[in-house]
Amino acid sequence: MSANDFRMDNQWLPFTANRHFRKDPRVFVAADGMAFTTYDGKKVIDGVSSLWCVGAGHNRRSINEAIKKQLDTLDYATAFQVSSDTAFRAAEAIATLAPGDLNKVLFCNSGSEAADTALKLALAYHRARGEGHRTVFIGREKGYHGVNFGGMSVGGIPGNRKAFGATFLPRVDHMRFIHDPVKHPYIHGEFPLWDEDPLIELEQRILPLHDPSNVAAIIVEPIAGSAGWYIPPKGYLQKLRAICDQHGILLIVDEVITGFGRMGANFACDLLGVVPDMLNFAKCVTNGVIPLGGVIVRDKIYDTMMNAPAPEHAVEFFHGYTYSGHPVACAAALATLDVYQREGLFARADQMGKVLGDAFHSTFKGLPNVIGIRSLGLAAAVELAPIAGAPGKRGYDIFLDCFHKGALVRPAGDVLVIAPPYIVESSHIDTLVNTLADAIRAHA
Ligand SMILES: Cc1ncc(COP(=O)(O)O)c(C=O)c1O
Repeated sequence: MSANDFRMDNQWLPFTANRHFRKDPRVFVAADGMAFTTYDGKKVIDGVSSLWCVGAGHNRRSINEAIKKQLDTLDYATAFQVSSDTAFRAAEAIATLAPGDLNKVLFCNSGSEAADTALKLALAYHRARGEGHRTVFIGREKGYHGVNFGGMSVGGIPGNRKAFGATFLPRVDHMRFIHDPVKHPYIHGEFPLWDEDPLIELEQRILPLHDPSNVAAIIVEPIAGSAGWYIPPKGYLQKLRAICDQHGILLIVDEVITGFGRMGANFACDLLGVVPDMLNFAKCVTNGVIPLGGVIVRDKIYDTMMNAPAPEHAVEFFHGYTYSGHPVACAAALATLDVYQREGLFARADQMGKVLGDAFHSTFKGLPNVIGIRSLGLAAAVELAPIAGAPGKRGYDIFLDCFHKGALVRPAGDVLVIAPPYIVESSHIDTLVNTLADAIRAHA
């Protein structure tokens, strides 16, 4: 196939430098296992699970077969006032994996929709229990919760916010970022020990400013993924849980990236021993093959909504999407979770995460412009000093260079991230890391 076999005039690519893309098209036509094939016949190793999605690797037969079978049986049914056996089964499988009494699953189609679903549910829940004045949300600097207005408002990546500020949710505050580039530039497979407590700011400034009784929910990622794999200090999420409990604030943990095995456990919350009030998921739940997201909710929230005074025929939560609990997506989820379980892929992610972390720290330390290296779970990041006056340019150039040499890595500004499928072998890690190292040297 050549670039003349498809026209590039009509697709506007998301989160992409479209003008440059047209000069240097990066177009896949097939994928299998750990690698893509490009239109011009090159192999590219998937170093980022496509976008943190493909935990089990590409083209998994049992997932494909489950999708085909579902299509032939029940292709689609509206999700409002009716449902499907497959959606109930998928919800059960997901709830079984979730910690504590996170037992109810509200399906949607993406991480962005999960963020808005969770924020809306927080408001509805407080209202149902007679505290409708709780309308303040607190997110964190450099947090990412998708691109819808709710998630964007509580998110904190400047580039994703700057053009849209006039329409943000009105009562939102942000906690400080959780990275210390001076004291903890290199983080190797652990939560760093800080000698100061970053949550003092929440307790002593942010909560008193709004009054805790007005705060509906605090939303955080366990690890700041999209910003560039930033790992919070030891004890951070546990302390946040305690603060939320103290003030009746809901804790929403966004596990769209960290859920379903990336951290070597079902969820990062398992690793941290924290049960949030809501847990957002997407991506790896279907191995990326069909969009599916959702919010797993604690019993107390569901029970409160069900027990609010209203006749039995009344809808309890006015929210949902046409494709919530789509049977084909749910069939994909069931088959995906089955592959993860049968092949022990979460344990494998843990094991290969150590290989990846060791490779990052032994290869990148001391290379030109490297100012930080962070590894935890099956993901690692190398942070580079930006080119003066052109932030993000070095990261972009290195990403392009790696792509042309057969490695898909993820740039987040001048941070380069590798987060491969859980089936990754040491040889793939060597190739990915060495290709990235060469590119870092080439763009010194
Ligand atoms: C933590 C987190 N939340 C939400 C999202 C948004 O998900 P989506 O792109 O599926 O809307 C992402 C995407 O990377 C994410 O990392």
